[in-house]
Amino acid sequence: MTDPGQRLRSSLAADQAASSGTEFDSPIAMEALRATRVLHAADQEPFPAPGRIRVVTIANQKGGVGKTTSAVNLGVALALYGLRTLVIDLDPQGNASTALGVEHSVGTPSVYDALVGDSSLSEVVHPTTASPLLSCVPATIDLAGAEIELVSVVAREYRLRRSIEAYLHSLPVERRPHYVLIDCPPSLGLLTLNALVAGDEVLIPIQCEYYALEGLGQLLNNIDLVRQHLNPGIAVRTILLTMYDGRTKLADQVAEEVRNHFGDLVLDAVIPRNVRVSEAPGYGQSVLTYDPGSRGSTSYVDAAREFAHRGVALPPLTSHPAPGGIAAPPAGALGFPDTDAATVPVPPSPEERA
Ligand SMILES: Nc1ncnc2c1ncn2[C@@H]1O[C@H](COP(=O)(O)OP(=O)(O)OP(=O)(O)O)[C@@H](O)[C@H]1O
Ligand SMILES: [Mg+2]
Repeated sequence: MTDPGQRLRSSLAADQAASSGTEFDSPIAMEALRATRVLHAADQEPFPAPGRIRVVTIANQKGGVGKTTSAVNLGVALALYGLRTLVIDLDPQGNASTALGVEHSVGTPSVYDALVGDSSLSEVVHPTTASPLLSCVPATIDLAGAEIELVSVVAREYRLRRSIEAYLHSLPVERRPHYVLIDCPPSLGLLTLNALVAGDEVLIPIQCEYYALEGLGQLLNNIDLVRQHLNPGIAVRTILLTMYDGRTKLADQVAEEVRNHFGDLVLDAVIPRNVRVSEAPGYGQSVLTYDPGSRGSTSYVDAAREFAHRGVALPPLTSHPAPGGIAAPPAGALGFPDTDAATVPVPPSPEERA
């Protein structure tokens, strides 16, 4: 069975079959059943591996739309269902690190050391308790200065891309992540630019609220500019509707407007507004581990499943030597001749800067 849509339908059908025809007909029993399914995800049909390593930039310069929540919970869902996943926290607020229970106090090896310093990503990757398949590059508050510190660094827009490429190449194929999810800050500055240059695709979470589409044009324009000048492969591939409140007409209107505008890019799965989702980070957890039977948890599992199935048909990037992986833009071809890896001088370490 090769059609990804058909595979997704049969995977969903298997899930539904497991919950129908049982004596679990009260809401609490259903919730317990759903929780069991998430908790024992490893015993169920794993999500299919993508056609190539997917480096996904999760961006929306609007604040509080669910970027971090989506990076964390999609990451945990992908890992629980068998896919190696790396979440890179690229926001000085460090919310993704908090939600994954990863230390991110000042001095912790973090994405700052890879972006501004000379650490490799492998030196700043931390394991998570959510799943052995999920790791995280945390962000510390140091990252707040990176926007300014990066200004004088050669090939500053390529720093994250180079780090990710070097990291992927340093790992044996069987240990390379299937997914790299980059959680962006709510701005269109140098950090988000680095994430757009590093990614092969963009996932935009859109909150089902009144001003949802405002400012989106600016983000899409920026993505176009990055495609023209810095990263020809980047494309918006996924839109995820978040914080949907079924009790309001407005949420339906926004969802409809987004679907009319973006068509198939929008995942069928919608994330409802659910209090368990917002409580989970306070316990250093994803909602999948905090309350696996909640609607928030199961909707993120559904979204991750759909997202994973859509990735199966992605063709490998041709210029990468190993199966899957990201391809470097051809040196000089983008009008930035000094961005070729061989010519990028190693930036001074933080100590040298001081
Ligand atoms: N589905 C949901 N139901 C209820 N609360 C949610 C949901 N998704 C996110 N939240 C809450 O909304 C707030 C904003 O979410 P989140 O931090 O993921 O957004 P963000 O886009 O990363 O924000 P920022 O732009 O500040 O980085 C958080 O307090 C989060 O817990
Ligand atoms: Mg965030």
